[in-house]
Amino acid sequence: MIFKNKFLASLLFGAFMPAALPAQTSVSVWDGVFTPGQVARGRTVYAEICTECHERALTGGGETRPLAGDRFLTGWYGETVGTLFDRVRVTMPLTKPGTLNRQQVADVVAFVLYFNNFPAGKTELSTRLEVLNQIRITNEPRR
Ligand code: HEC
Repeated sequence: MIFKNKFLASLLFGAFMPAALPAQTSVSVWDGVFTPGQVARGRTVYAEICTECHERALTGGGETRPLAGDRFLTGWYGETVGTLFDRVRVTMPLTKPGTLNRQQVADVVAFVLYFNNFPAGKTELSTRLEVLNQIRITNEPRR
Protein backbone atom coordinates (compact mmCIF):
# COMPACT_ATOMS: atom_id res chain seq x y z
CA MET A 1 0.00 0.00 0.00
CA ILE A 2 2.76 2.39 0.95
CA PHE A 3 4.59 1.44 -2.22
CA LYS A 4 1.49 2.00 -4.26
CA ASN A 5 0.88 5.48 -2.82
CA LYS A 6 4.46 6.51 -3.35
CA PHE A 7 4.32 5.20 -6.87
CA LEU A 8 1.16 7.17 -7.62
CA ALA A 9 2.61 10.26 -6.01
CA SER A 10 5.71 10.00 -8.16
CA LEU A 11 3.55 9.69 -11.26
CA LEU A 12 1.50 12.72 -10.30
CA PHE A 13 4.25 14.98 -9.01
CA GLY A 14 7.34 13.58 -10.65
CA ALA A 15 7.17 16.10 -13.47
CA PHE A 16 7.83 19.09 -11.25
CA MET A 17 9.09 17.77 -7.90
CA PRO A 18 12.80 18.24 -7.35
CA ALA A 19 14.37 14.83 -7.93
CA ALA A 20 16.28 14.96 -4.64
CA LEU A 21 13.06 15.06 -2.61
CA PRO A 22 11.14 12.03 -3.85
CA ALA A 23 9.09 11.32 -0.72
CA GLN A 24 7.66 14.80 -0.25
CA THR A 25 4.05 15.51 -0.98
CA SER A 26 4.29 19.29 -1.02
CA VAL A 27 6.72 21.94 -2.18
CA SER A 28 7.60 25.24 -0.56
CA VAL A 29 9.57 28.32 -1.56
CA TRP A 30 12.52 26.78 0.32
CA ASP A 31 12.91 24.02 -2.25
CA GLY A 32 14.65 26.04 -4.97
CA VAL A 33 11.65 26.79 -7.16
CA PHE A 34 13.29 29.31 -9.54
CA THR A 35 16.68 29.66 -11.25
CA PRO A 36 19.35 32.38 -11.09
CA GLY A 37 18.81 33.09 -14.81
CA GLN A 38 15.13 33.65 -14.21
CA VAL A 39 15.92 36.00 -11.33
CA ALA A 40 18.12 38.03 -13.70
CA ARG A 41 15.24 38.38 -16.18
CA GLY A 42 12.85 39.22 -13.35
CA ARG A 43 15.22 41.89 -12.09
CA THR A 44 14.98 43.60 -15.48
CA VAL A 45 11.17 43.46 -15.46
CA TYR A 46 11.17 44.81 -11.92
CA ALA A 47 13.56 47.67 -12.78
CA GLU A 48 11.55 48.69 -15.83
CA ILE A 49 8.06 48.39 -14.43
CA CYS A 50 7.83 48.02 -10.65
CA THR A 51 10.64 50.22 -9.26
CA GLU A 52 8.65 53.36 -10.03
CA CYS A 53 6.25 52.55 -7.18
CA HIS A 54 7.79 49.77 -5.07
CA GLU A 55 11.28 51.34 -5.01
CA ARG A 56 14.59 49.70 -5.83
CA ALA A 57 14.91 47.93 -2.47
CA LEU A 58 11.28 46.70 -2.67
CA THR A 59 10.44 48.84 0.34
CA GLY A 60 7.34 50.42 -1.15
CA GLY A 61 6.35 53.72 0.40
CA GLY A 62 3.17 55.67 1.02
CA GLU A 63 0.24 53.69 -0.37
CA THR A 64 2.54 51.23 -2.10
CA ARG A 65 3.17 48.08 -0.11
CA PRO A 66 6.64 46.65 0.35
CA LEU A 67 7.52 43.49 -1.59
CA ALA A 68 10.25 42.38 0.80
CA GLY A 69 10.84 42.00 4.49
CA ASP A 70 8.69 41.01 7.45
CA ARG A 71 5.69 43.13 6.59
CA PHE A 72 5.43 41.64 3.12
CA LEU A 73 6.20 38.07 4.15
CA THR A 74 3.86 37.99 7.14
CA GLY A 75 0.99 38.76 4.81
CA TRP A 76 1.94 35.93 2.46
CA TYR A 77 2.87 33.07 4.78
CA GLY A 78 0.46 30.21 4.24
CA GLU A 79 -0.48 31.39 0.75
CA THR A 80 0.78 29.75 -2.41
CA VAL A 81 3.04 31.19 -5.08
CA GLY A 82 0.04 30.75 -7.39
CA THR A 83 -1.88 33.35 -5.39
CA LEU A 84 1.07 35.75 -5.49
CA PHE A 85 1.49 35.13 -9.23
CA ASP A 86 -2.16 35.94 -9.91
CA ARG A 87 -2.08 38.97 -7.61
CA VAL A 88 0.67 40.41 -9.80
CA ARG A 89 -0.79 39.17 -13.08
CA VAL A 90 -4.28 40.56 -12.45
CA THR A 91 -3.63 43.77 -10.46
CA MET A 92 -0.10 44.97 -11.33
CA PRO A 93 1.33 47.31 -12.47
CA LEU A 94 -1.35 49.28 -10.68
CA THR A 95 -1.91 51.82 -13.45
CA LYS A 96 -1.72 49.26 -16.32
CA PRO A 97 -2.88 45.91 -14.95
CA GLY A 98 -2.81 42.92 -17.29
CA THR A 99 0.00 44.26 -19.47
CA LEU A 100 2.60 41.67 -18.40
CA ASN A 101 2.64 38.28 -20.09
CA ARG A 102 2.74 35.12 -17.94
CA GLN A 103 6.48 34.66 -18.42
CA GLN A 104 7.21 38.21 -17.24
CA VAL A 105 5.00 37.64 -14.20
CA ALA A 106 6.75 34.36 -13.33
CA ASP A 107 10.15 36.02 -13.76
CA VAL A 108 9.32 39.02 -11.59
CA VAL A 109 7.80 36.77 -8.90
CA ALA A 110 11.03 34.73 -8.97
CA PHE A 111 12.97 37.96 -8.43
CA VAL A 112 10.73 38.97 -5.51
CA LEU A 113 11.18 35.54 -3.88
CA TYR A 114 14.94 35.74 -4.40
CA PHE A 115 15.04 39.22 -2.88
CA ASN A 116 13.28 37.77 0.17
CA ASN A 117 16.17 35.31 0.59
CA PHE A 118 14.52 32.16 -0.69
CA PRO A 119 17.04 29.94 -2.46
CA ALA A 120 17.40 29.51 -6.21
CA GLY A 121 17.39 26.01 -7.68
CA LYS A 122 17.58 24.19 -11.00
CA THR A 123 14.01 24.48 -12.23
CA GLU A 124 12.42 27.68 -13.44
CA LEU A 125 9.27 28.92 -11.75
CA SER A 126 6.41 27.75 -13.91
CA THR A 127 3.87 30.00 -15.61
CA ARG A 128 1.14 27.41 -14.95
CA LEU A 129 -1.20 28.06 -12.07
CA GLU A 130 -1.77 24.37 -11.30
CA VAL A 131 1.97 24.02 -10.65
CA LEU A 132 2.32 27.33 -8.79
CA ASN A 133 -0.62 26.46 -6.55
CA GLN A 134 1.44 23.54 -5.19
CA ILE A 135 4.22 25.81 -3.91
CA ARG A 136 3.55 27.19 -0.47
CA ILE A 137 5.09 30.33 1.01
CA THR A 138 6.26 29.25 4.47
CA ASN A 139 8.41 30.93 7.10
CA GLU A 140 10.77 27.99 7.53
CA PRO A 141 11.97 25.02 5.56
CA ARG A 142 10.08 21.84 6.25
CA ARG A 143 11.78 19.81 8.95
C1 HEC B 1 1.83 52.68 -10.31
C2 HEC B 1 2.39 52.12 -9.07
C3 HEC B 1 2.68 50.64 -9.02
C4 HEC B 1 3.40 49.90 -9.93
C5 HEC B 1 4.05 50.35 -11.22
C6 HEC B 1 3.42 48.55 -9.41
N1 HEC B 1 2.74 48.49 -8.23
FE1 HEC B 1 2.46 46.82 -7.07
N2 HEC B 1 1.32 47.90 -5.77
C7 HEC B 1 1.09 49.25 -5.85
C8 HEC B 1 0.23 49.67 -4.75
C9 HEC B 1 -0.24 51.09 -4.48
C10 HEC B 1 -0.05 48.50 -4.01
C11 HEC B 1 -0.94 48.40 -2.78
C12 HEC B 1 -2.35 48.64 -3.16
C13 HEC B 1 -2.93 47.46 -3.82
O1 HEC B 1 -2.77 46.37 -3.26
O2 HEC B 1 -3.54 47.56 -4.90
C14 HEC B 1 0.65 47.41 -4.68
C15 HEC B 1 0.61 46.09 -4.27
C16 HEC B 1 1.37 45.08 -4.82
C17 HEC B 1 1.43 43.72 -4.33
C18 HEC B 1 0.68 43.17 -3.14
C19 HEC B 1 1.56 43.31 -1.93
C20 HEC B 1 0.96 42.71 -0.70
O3 HEC B 1 1.72 42.22 0.14
O4 HEC B 1 -0.26 42.69 -0.59
C21 HEC B 1 2.28 43.04 -5.11
C22 HEC B 1 2.71 41.58 -4.97
C23 HEC B 1 2.78 43.96 -6.12
N3 HEC B 1 2.18 45.19 -5.90
C24 HEC B 1 3.69 43.63 -7.09
C25 HEC B 1 4.07 44.49 -8.12
C26 HEC B 1 4.96 44.11 -9.19
C27 HEC B 1 5.67 42.78 -9.29
C28 HEC B 1 5.05 45.18 -10.02
C29 HEC B 1 5.78 45.28 -11.33
C30 HEC B 1 5.37 44.31 -12.33
C31 HEC B 1 4.21 46.24 -9.47
N4 HEC B 1 3.64 45.78 -8.31
C32 HEC B 1 4.05 47.48 -10.03
C33 HEC B 1 1.57 50.10 -6.81
C34 HEC B 1 2.29 49.75 -7.94
